[in-house]
Amino acid sequence: MLIRWQWIALVLSLILAGALAGLGWFESRPGWARYQREYIRLAADRPANEAATESRLEIRQIEIAALNRVDRCATCHLGATNPKMADAPLPFTTHPALLDSHPPEEYGCAICHGGEGRAVTTAEAHGEMPGQHGRLIPDALLPSACYACHGSDTLPPSDTAVVAEGIKLINEYKCLRCHQLDGVGGSIGPDLSAVASQRNWVEIYAHLLRPDALSPGSTMPDFGLRRGEATAIAAYLLTRLGPGERVTDVMYLVAEPALAGTPAPNEAVTSDIAPGDIVSENIAPGNIAPGDIASENIAPGDIASENIAPGNIAPTRRSYEAIAPGYDGRRLFEGLDCSVCHRVGLKGGEVGPDLTHIGRGREAAWLRDLLTDPARAFPDGQMPAYDLSEAQVKALVDYLVTLK
Ligand code: HEC
Ligand code: HEC
Ligand code: HEC
Ligand code: HEC
Ligand code: HEC
Repeated sequence: MLIRWQWIALVLSLILAGALAGLGWFESRPGWARYQREYIRLAADRPANEAATESRLEIRQIEIAALNRVDRCATCHLGATNPKMADAPLPFTTHPALLDSHPPEEYGCAICHGGEGRAVTTAEAHGEMPGQHGRLIPDALLPSACYACHGSDTLPPSDTAVVAEGIKLINEYKCLRCHQLDGVGGSIGPDLSAVASQRNWVEIYAHLLRPDALSPGSTMPDFGLRRGEATAIAAYLLTRLGPGERVTDVMYLVAEPALAGTPAPNEAVTSDIAPGDIVSENIAPGNIAPGDIASENIAPGDIASENIAPGNIAPTRRSYEAIAPGYDGRRLFEGLDCSVCHRVGLKGGEVGPDLTHIGRGREAAWLRDLLTDPARAFPDGQMPAYDLSEAQVKALVDYLVTLK
């Protein structure tokens, strides 16, 4: 009798487990499939487009063994290498240049943009879930990826100017009195040689603005950095990854044939950013001279506003409205790490102003402008530019105006 009941219980629990698994599958049924269907539809509207007939619904992934990374970004960003999608909205848009020399099938996307390559939901892939470490990095910081692979010799100086400016500032502020880079420098503060392994761009940036807000009792000085300077120093520090994470390791693997005859990338890169260069005021000829590179192209402290003429607000990115991600402003505020700098109620940091009652003092339109381009609202301010999409700006503003 007992035995029979056990059997019935087993069968029932199997059915239940099956049903739950099915439900789980249904629930998690990925947004990506909707993007892919939509892409096929859009591509079909464009005449003579092979992508339309080729496309099947499937996760597109590449593996970068050297870094133990998987990159699935192309699962949604299907038009990146399709020139016919130039006028399509995000995430289907043709990529602005660069992908011929860095084909997605070898490099993926996260190698330049950051984010969580494994994920197949928008929020997770872009690192917008509260508590996630990897985040998409804003455009102003993209040159750190270029620099990490190319150093400063193989690209026009303007491509890595922001990083060179960061090196210059690290020299000027004598950060290595207290910090080490590759074994050189003081030991009052932590070794920064691989700081970007532990910290994402927001954390690094925020720390530079107000060390004691992130580490109570910190003895690191508050240098009163403005947006441009903090951006530049962060751009350099983001190139500081641990062994096994360095993009140069990948470059070596994927591009060996292409680079035959040139020095091994590791050498090239380490000589570019030899710690000696950073400490010493006088930089040996032939090595990177960050000051020179930077001063040619940009006035110090002027980096963030470089591309944005005053009064000429940068447009938010056009995304595909029919299936735009449904953002919850409160979660996004956490997920984008706004709370590292801003307090709301009892939670959050103290690098920037307390936003508990922001909805009383600021209008929606003003907030929208600020989030689209902080340099316009606060030209000499500290708040970083995120390059938010329209949908993100709207969700955040809808949330902020409720804070009364
Ligand atoms: C599930 C689909 C999906 C995946 C996977 C995905 N994205 Fe996106 N991506 C989108 C959508 C949708 C947008 C438009 C943004 C919006 O409307 O908020 C977008 C926008 C972007 C943008 C421009 C907007 C910005 O914030 O700068 C970048 C850059 C980007 N994605 C990079 C990546 C990278 C890198 C990966 C992989 C780590 C990735 N995406 C994976 C759907 C996806
Ligand atoms: C070699 C580095 C590199 C790689 C690899 C790369 N990108 Fe980019 N991407 C950039 C740069 C630099 C820009 C900014 C270009 C500009 O400022 O116009 C950019 C811009 C973008 C944008 C914004 C376009 C817009 O219309 O505003 C999106 C979205 C994007 N990339 C997605 C991707 C995806 C998806 C992949 C992988 C298929 C990828 N990127 C691979 C460097 C890269
Ligand atoms: C993961 C390492 C890596 C990253 C990150 C990277 N590159 Fe490259 N890049 C390479 C390699 C390797 C080549 C050589 C490819 C080839 O010749 O086939 C290359 C080639 C190029 C070329 C073409 C040079 C030529 O002679 O054809 C340009 C331009 C370029 N990169 C710019 C950039 C910019 C700008 C960025 C940042 C947005 C960037 N790269 C990021 C590794 C990288
Ligand atoms: C007088 C010594 C001193 C100087 C100068 C100094 N720092 Fe620091 N720094 C510290 C100390 C101590 C800490 C650890 C306490 C803390 O987290 O603030 C720290 C922490 C940091 C961190 C956080 C590291 C982590 O893993 O969280 C970063 C990033 C940093 N410093 C960057 C810089 C940069 C860039 C400069 C130059 C602009 C600089 N520091 C100048 C003492 C200093
Ligand atoms: C690295 C720190 C930092 C981060 C991250 C940050 N902010 Fe700020 N924010 C500031 C600072 C500092 C100011 C004060 C103005 C200035 O100096 O630019 C500010 C100003 C603001 C203001 C205007 C407050 C006023 O004066 O009325 C709002 C609203 C705001 N931030 C929202 C956000 C949102 C939303 C995010 C996330 C997308 C965010 N911030 C991320 C530092 C930050």
